[in-house]
Order: sequence, then structure tokens, then C-alpha cells
Amino acid sequence: MNNIVLSCRNLSKSYPQADAPALEIFNNVSFELGNSETISIVGSSGSGKTSLLQILAGLDTATSGRVIVCDEDISMMNQNELCKVRNQHLGFIYQFHHLLPEFTALENTLMPLIIAGKQANEDYQYAEYILGRLGLGQRLKHFPSQLSGGERQRVAIARAVVNKPQIVFADEPTGNLDNTTAHQVLDIFFELQQELKTSLIIVTHDSAIANKTQKIYQLKNGILNS
Ligand SMILES: Nc1ncnc2c1ncn2[C@@H]1O[C@H](COP(=O)(O)OP(=O)(O)O)[C@@H](O)[C@H]1O
Ligand SMILES: [Mg+2]
Repeated sequence: MNNIVLSCRNLSKSYPQADAPALEIFNNVSFELGNSETISIVGSSGSGKTSLLQILAGLDTATSGRVIVCDEDISMMNQNELCKVRNQHLGFIYQFHHLLPEFTALENTLMPLIIAGKQANEDYQYAEYILGRLGLGQRLKHFPSQLSGGERQRVAIARAVVNKPQIVFADEPTGNLDNTTAHQVLDIFFELQQELKTSLIIVTHDSAIANKTQKIYQLKNGILNS
């Protein structure tokens, strides 16, 4: 099918240990993500959600198995090739915003394009538009220290989508916000996701958040089930 933007086949991950057998995190994980599809991966703390997401996003390597992103096998890529795929096709949102303190909301949003050496006028306009959609139109020149927790996380969302990625990976993106703020931020994010038609993989231990996605997978005892 040509509307698949990510597929993984028989992914397994284990961490070697010095004085004991390797620590097996998950085995034979396989699934596909369609164009503009949203899925969540739920599981308790320590179940391997972050490890899986990092591998899907090309930030870590699996012990075995393959990951195909936008028709390219990223499991076989070197760091340069991976950087290019990540920068062109993927966006990331983490639990902690990881904004750069000495840059404004607008500059932080533009950072993926600055790193790629692309900052046309239209990119500035697009970043302003995205920040406006996220309710930050009056906060463009604020530094992270001048923003609330929810606002910072909205800037992190803007940064994740500014390069018009095909897939956004979100790892407990509202995990350090209070419940009300978390749901406000997510609702606005899902609105934007529908507008931009980006595919989304969100990792969470919160079933209320998972219920906002089209499909829910559960990672338990090293097995991924739908
Ligand atoms: N770099 C690492 N080396 C060894 N063990 C790790 C490493 N990263 C994670 N783990 C272990 O893998 C398991 C899954 O971790 P993680 O993927 O962070 O789970 P989750 O995100 O679901 O909380 C944990 O038991 C953790 O201790
Ligand atoms: Mg985690």
C-alpha cells in the first residue's frame, strides 16, 4: 500500500548487561502507520515505550528488525542519512520541552529550519501562523522563561511541525503539565494535526490521552498488542 508512511517488522530490543544476560525490552514488534493516521502506544512506566519510539524515529537502533520510514529503510542508514530523513520528514515532541533558553518562541519554532539552513520569509510566516494557531500569536518574542509550562509545550509542538513533517513522534508530550493544561494543549495539537494531516505516534501511560488517537496499541511484557 502506498499510503503507509512508517512500517516496522519484527523489531526487538535488548540492552546488554555486564554480569547478566541481556535485558530484553520487547520482541517482534510489527505494525504499520498510514498517512495522516494517529496511533498511541500505551504501557506502564518501564514497559519500553520510549525505547520503541526512539527506534521508530531513528534516534536509536533495534537489536533486530527493520523500520521503513517514507519508503526508506532507516535501519540500514548511517548517521548523515538518518539526520536528513529526521530533518525532512519527522517531528519530535518530548515530555520536557527542550526549548533553547536564549532564543524566542519564534526562533525556537524555526530551529529545525535554521539547522537545515533554510529560513525563507515564507518559513517565518509559516512559523508565525503555526504559533498563532496554537494561541501564541501574542508570544512570538517571549523567551521560554517568560512562558507558562503549557505555552512552552505549545512552542515545542510548533517546532515539531514547522518543517511540515510526514510523521510526528510524541513521547509523553504533556507528562509534566497538570491535567487540565495537558488536555487543552492536546486538543489544540490534535486540531492542528488534522489540519496539517501529519501522521502521529504518541506514547503515553494515560488512557484518556490515548483515546484521542484512531488506534491504540499496548506494550506489555515485551509484546505490542492492538
Ligand atoms: N540505555 C539503556 N540501557 C539499559 N537499559 C535501559 C536503557 N534505556 C532503557 N532501559 C531499560 O529499558 C526498560 C524500558 O525503558 P523505557 O523504554 O524508558 O520505558 P518507558 O518509556 O515505557 O517508561 C526499562 O526497564 C529501562 O530501565
Ligand atoms: Mg518513557
